[in-house]
Amino acid sequence: FGIGMLIVFLAVVGVGAFAMGHQPASNIKTIDPEKVTETAPFDNPGLVHIEGNKYELNLVAEAFAYTPNTIQIPKGAEVTINVATKDVVHGFSIAGTNVNMMVEPGYISSYTQTFDKTGEFLVLCNEYCGAGHHLMMSKVEVI
Ligand code: CUA
Repeated sequence: FGIGMLIVFLAVVGVGAFAMGHQPASNIKTIDPEKVTETAPFDNPGLVHIEGNKYELNLVAEAFAYTPNTIQIPKGAEVTINVATKDVVHGFSIAGTNVNMMVEPGYISSYTQTFDKTGEFLVLCNEYCGAGHHLMMSKVEVI
């Protein structure tokens, strides 16, 4: 029975990975974690207007803060959020939205979110990153 279940398990994983394409994305962007603040766009983090209602928000995470710390976003903006870390693994989640990313050294984490509701949203680090983890937070203001 055990061997049978193992074969079933491997078949499910194999079909998922090779027939249905459930594999790590091949378009993940990388970054030198020691040169985050020298690498565009993270050398000048913040909100950038692209066109119409499209924006890009670039953030740097480090123990135990985000740069910039408070972000103002116009209501209705479609924002592609890019986060890079200078040191260890951090999280980037915006309470009350679907934004919830792990930020790993060497990689740029991205997610696109439309901000339809005005208000203040708490940004939290949800990966344990050291003694100051519980202090690592910032704020998004949708105005
Ligand atoms: Cu950064 Cu926990």
